Amino acid sequence: MVGTAHRSAGVEGVEGGVGLTALMVAAARAIETHRHDSLARDAFAEHFVLAAPASAGWPIRMQQVPDGDADPLWGRFARYFGLRTRVLDDFLLRSVRAEAGGARQVVLLGAGLDTRAFRLDWPSGCVIFEIDREGVLAFKHQVLDGLSATPKAARVPIPIDLRADWVGALTDAGFDRAEPSVWLAEGLLFYLPGASEKYLIDTVDLLSTGGSALAFEVKLEKDLLAYRDSPLYTSTRDQIGIDLLNLFDGEPRPDSAGDLADKGWSTSVHTPFDFTRRHGRGPLPEQNDALEGNRWVFANKPRP
Ligand SMILES: C[S@@+](CC[C@H](N)C(=O)[O-])C[C@H]1O[C@@H](n2cnc3c(N)ncnc32)[C@H](O)[C@@H]1O
Repeated sequence: MVGTAHRSAGVEGVEGGVGLTALMVAAARAIETHRHDSLARDAFAEHFVLAAPASAGWPIRMQQVPDGDADPLWGRFARYFGLRTRVLDDFLLRSVRAEAGGARQVVLLGAGLDTRAFRLDWPSGCVIFEIDREGVLAFKHQVLDGLSATPKAARVPIPIDLRADWVGALTDAGFDRAEPSVWLAEGLLFYLPGASEKYLIDTVDLLSTGGSALAFEVKLEKDLLAYRDSPLYTSTRDQIGIDLLNLFDGEPRPDSAGDLADKGWSTSVHTPFDFTRRHGRGPLPEQNDALEGNRWVFANKPRP
């Protein structure tokens, strides 16, 4: 770590609320890691699940899931997270390559238990800024310190709520807006109020010089509740007590991909299923599908 910003708001950890979703993603990554055809490997993921009282009894291997791939949560949804991890790993590494602009600053918004700073092979000179709430990052450090984990790039945790002044915290921590940057909001925006999402996207634009890149995930459904009886939502609620629909912000969403295009970014919008087909594994569309509105957006700011 090269430094820690100390301005914080919101100390909730991984024991409940939206912080618990970070543990759910960690369990999914642990399961993915041990699949024979895994799309992404994260050797740290299972340690988070084993360390937190809130995830006691959750599986970290497919063999611990009685229904296997037929289980909507630990089968299909976990595979979704495995695919998302792989696709966004690829995006980040592609974006820091010299021919893509050679950005050396990476900002993980709502980083949760993302261990990319520890497991990806970053080019020299990269700095990974990780923004999440204080309690989530404290838990993450407790587990990683216990494993004597060493980051593969300079890593700067920034414990702050994204509804507070995270820009001041990021710049105080050494982010340089004159240099290209790579941004990631993975599994985050649908938990934020629409105004916070709009502020976040506008701010990423302001802080990004030409050659910068951003990836984020959104849900396009007009009515989130239309899928409230989907197996994915009901199994997540019934098996591990996470009521995603209760955690998602119910306000109408801004058109963030459209807003970035209006600001001159080049954007591409994909369904997860596009990548399932590309990789030959992952979730495919089904009836009453809670993933139906999910989109992964990739945006690049051209050089002047
Ligand atoms: C589903 S987890 C995803 C974590 C990580 N991006 C990943 O994919 O592994 C959502 C994360 O967003 C964080 N988050 C949600 N609302 C936030 C806020 N207002 N400020 C900071 N972090 C927030 C949560 O603490 C949690 O770690």
